[in-house]
Amino acid sequence: MKILVIMGSYRKGNTWHAAERIREIIQEKIPVEWEYVMLGDVSLDQCRGCYTCFARGVEYCPIRDDASRLTQKMHDADGVIFATPVYAFQVSGLMKMFIDRHSYICHRPRFFRQKALILTSAGMVGIDDVLKYLDLVIRIWGFEVTAKVGVYSHATMGPLPAYRVRENEQKLQAAAAAFLEALRRGTRSKPGLMDVIFFHVGRAPVGELGERSPADYKYWTDQGWLEKEKRYFVDVPVNPLYHAIGGIVEWYLRRRIRKDIRETG
Ligand SMILES: Cc1cc2nc3c(=O)[nH]c(=O)nc-3n(C[C@H](O)[C@H](O)[C@H](O)COP(=O)(O)O)c2cc1C
Repeated sequence: MKILVIMGSYRKGNTWHAAERIREIIQEKIPVEWEYVMLGDVSLDQCRGCYTCFARGVEYCPIRDDASRLTQKMHDADGVIFATPVYAFQVSGLMKMFIDRHSYICHRPRFFRQKALILTSAGMVGIDDVLKYLDLVIRIWGFEVTAKVGVYSHATMGPLPAYRVRENEQKLQAAAAAFLEALRRGTRSKPGLMDVIFFHVGRAPVGELGERSPADYKYWTDQGWLEKEKRYFVDVPVNPLYHAIGGIVEWYLRRRIRKDIRETG
């Protein structure tokens, strides 16, 4: 079992210690290969907004750095922990840069085999926003998000009171248990309503734009996702009500896209 931690802090500080605690809890139960990617130590450049990855494919990205190596590491892992401190109420700049460089995956999701755990740490404010944001991105990339955990730290106020330490420990235990359960299960759980909606929201533009958006169109066609009877990215049972809601959302979006195409030519 391979676990990869994408660490959005430059330092081995509070977030890293929380990830280490999760490692200890999991390694008490099963043997795992554990790897940290400290985003501050790899070569990762800012996205330049050229749209090449969206339009032609990521293999044409003009930036030569470690991004594709990191993508491959996520492919090779069974579980990925996305870990970041809260900076100014959001993910750290390092984590945002990592996400931006993988934005094309929002159009071409892929990590359906991998389980994810989302981890953050903060002095006081912003945990919920960070967890919500990372949950959105990571789910859209295809991961099954099995646990989300935010721990409190004291940045400049000395040691944490004992009750905070206990709370953090309980949260880390619960998150590690949920992650471990999903890793052991291996199979994909049924998609929730939002997951099914993401499938249909993604399919509407690809289906309508077709060859106007060649890289997305080829990817979706190759996966068989444009076939009418497809209900989700992978073959798992989909709640019929979620399917019906997703279908309505897709129908509405396709209508709007067709109207826009008619008007702009
Ligand atoms: C630049 C910067 C911005 C921060 N912004 C916030 C914030 O918005 N809310 C908060 O509660 N803590 C904030 N903090 C505190 C960190 O989130 C907190 O100390 C975190 O545990 C640091 O994680 P690390 O030790 O893994 O780097 C900030 C810290 C730094 C350095």
